[in-house]
Amino acid sequence: MNSSSSTRPRVLVARRLFPEITERLSAHFEVDAYAGVAPLSPSELVARLQGCAGVLVTGTERIDAALLEACPALRAVCSMAVGYNNIDVAACTARRVLVSNAPGVLTETTADFGFALMMATARRISESEHWLRAGQWKQWSYDLFAGSDVHGATLGILGMGRIGQAIARRGALGFGMSVAYHNRSRLPPADEAAVSARYVDLPELLRIADHLVIVVPYTPQTHHLIGAAELALMKPTATLTNIARGGVVDDRALAEALKLRRIAAAGLDVFEGEPQVHPDLLTVPNVVLTPHIASASLPTRRAMAELAATNLVAALTGAQPPTALNP
Ligand code: DGY
Repeated sequence: MNSSSSTRPRVLVARRLFPEITERLSAHFEVDAYAGVAPLSPSELVARLQGCAGVLVTGTERIDAALLEACPALRAVCSMAVGYNNIDVAACTARRVLVSNAPGVLTETTADFGFALMMATARRISESEHWLRAGQWKQWSYDLFAGSDVHGATLGILGMGRIGQAIARRGALGFGMSVAYHNRSRLPPADEAAVSARYVDLPELLRIADHLVIVVPYTPQTHHLIGAAELALMKPTATLTNIARGGVVDDRALAEALKLRRIAAAGLDVFEGEPQVHPDLLTVPNVVLTPHIASASLPTRRAMAELAATNLVAALTGAQPPTALNP
């Protein structure tokens, strides 16, 4: 039988990706690989999904009940992101549409970035570079961009999944930090010991952290988990780093806290309504802003796309997708 027979399932790769991913999928499917740089609009996505049995998405395409209703042929939604707040998993399950994400492959890369962002924030690296580039450096001074220490400080981790644990390891083993964490459920003692972390409640975490790093998934329960009241509990010398999802932090309240120096500084890789950034955050100097790149090393992005492709092939060929969310 001709391997390019049109009876093969049709799949959409919804974002511009590594060409080898499309080639690999083409061995099994008729592939529509979207090549544009800007994401497809919701109506364009629905139009391109007509007749498709599967779709490879990133963390930004919205897959909800209305889309599923409009795309009745869809059987599998495979994301190359670990966070899946853009996908209504319950609606997919109700329609027997398989959903997968891409955990594991980005853990260490994302933890590296979280740590780097925390350090850049504590040591005022972006702020001082902008100042230098603006030609303002005239002399040395004892307090010139003096920040806070990372080594030996208290690292507070909000969310203790794979990435949280990888950040804890870096802090405890590499920088001699005292590590405290808060999570929906407490880790087993052996896992806590492995990353030298102690469990505390959220108010306590906010009170004791010199550097707070946020890595919780975004859900209705974590929407604005950190707002004005929570920021008010933090030390005025503390930093906050968010590599989770923008909606976990109330960006307006954070900008206000930074402006009034209620906390010392923040490092943000994610934003509510990104790629829009709250305008108040753009005007305060004590925040490091990056465009959602925590997992962006090329080997890791390739591994994420490969895992999504593996899930998609499995889902549509009767095998068990390795990281299905609703198997
Ligand atoms: C993830 O995988 O969830 C990253 O944030 C990239 O979207």
